[in-house]
Amino acid sequence: MELVDAPHSKCGTFGFVGSSPTAPICLMDTYKRLPLKLIKGKGCWVWDDKGKKYLDAVAGIASCSLGHSDKKLAAVLRKQLNTIQHISNLYQISEQEELGEWLVSNSCAEKVFFCNSGAEANEAVIKLARKYGHQKKQISEPIILCAKSSFHGRTLATISATGQEKYHKGFEPLVQGFSFFEYNDLTSFINLQKQIEENGPRIAAVLIEPIQGEGGIVPGNISFFKHLRDLCTKHKILLVFDEVQTGMGRTGTLWGYENLNIEPDAFTLAKGLGGGHAIGALLVKEKANIFEPGDHASTFGGNPFACKAALTVATEIQNRKILVNVNVRGEELKEGLREIVAIYPNDLQEVRGIGLMQGLVINEKSKLTPTKIIEMAIKEGLLVISAGQNVIRVVPPLIITKNEIRKILKKLNTTFNLLIN
Ligand SMILES: Cc1ncc(COP(=O)(O)O)c(C=O)c1O
Repeated sequence: MELVDAPHSKCGTFGFVGSSPTAPICLMDTYKRLPLKLIKGKGCWVWDDKGKKYLDAVAGIASCSLGHSDKKLAAVLRKQLNTIQHISNLYQISEQEELGEWLVSNSCAEKVFFCNSGAEANEAVIKLARKYGHQKKQISEPIILCAKSSFHGRTLATISATGQEKYHKGFEPLVQGFSFFEYNDLTSFINLQKQIEENGPRIAAVLIEPIQGEGGIVPGNISFFKHLRDLCTKHKILLVFDEVQTGMGRTGTLWGYENLNIEPDAFTLAKGLGGGHAIGALLVKEKANIFEPGDHASTFGGNPFACKAALTVATEIQNRKILVNVNVRGEELKEGLREIVAIYPNDLQEVRGIGLMQGLVINEKSKLTPTKIIEMAIKEGLLVISAGQNVIRVVPPLIITKNEIRKILKKLNTTFNLLIN
């Protein structure tokens, strides 16, 4: 076959093809993309191809911890590209060891496995939980309990672990071995546990988010999680936290579990870990350190480039006291969002979240939809994202300033004013 250059006419802008009016013709139609092409970023700001500037409260879906084009991150990665990028886990990788050392020194975990994304990290822990069930509890068909309205990724096992039917539809048969209880509801958990374990132990693990993200920004209840921790310890069930969205400072503590005053036996990371670069991780305490050579692997997982990116994010979070910023800016954001709710009480219901992971809940009776809000905000030069059915999620870079928080609030207020009045 003759090779040709990709002409802009063939794989160009917004082709109005297929079910999504904005799908370029060469890409599979998996995303309903907005008609917005972002080509440049600096700090908390991004620019489109026409030169218009936007304040970015999406941050690559809660991923660009240090914002865009961070000077330090760019310099370190430029140097890394000129040193070594990828060698595989057949060999020792000093950047991976250094990052692993930082992670275990700064968390409750003792060992790390590196991969490339949140779904992959959860896949790893699902396999680990099943092995734990077989090996430590002699369960022939281990079950993992997950919460309703949860989100754990888009691979077959992680959609099966996700407690939202819309992600299952069309992809049945799902992976077996997952059962669901209501998030933050102890009675629901205990009833499910009793029902499953009527004739003896069958539950290997609980996989749960400390704050539900995609499900609509729902913070975990401290009392529920304390009881959950106790029950898991008592019944030798692994308590696994999905910290893909909450981990690495997003909630003002390094890890989401710190807000709940308990420690999981294992937790997964991705998103903010690489500050916009693809890396995921599974971290375990010694009791869950049961993988052996050959059990699990990844070609690119823990490569020098991705690990150097994450190491830089980690050291910058420490050196620039970014957690303090997340707490202070998070409070300002929450307070300002509450003031907006008070201005539009018929349309807006409440603000939920911790740190720089905040959700603005739209009233059920309101005619506003997340799509309408997102599109109007874009006109005002602000990027926000939805979560669940009726929540606008505000997850800016962790380095956001006081002035930029003010600007987010002002632009949101104008957005609602234009939509409502
Ligand atoms: C809590 C949680 N887990 C897992 C994932 C999946 O991560 P990824 O898209 O990197 O596979 C996400 C992504 O939104 C998430 O929020």
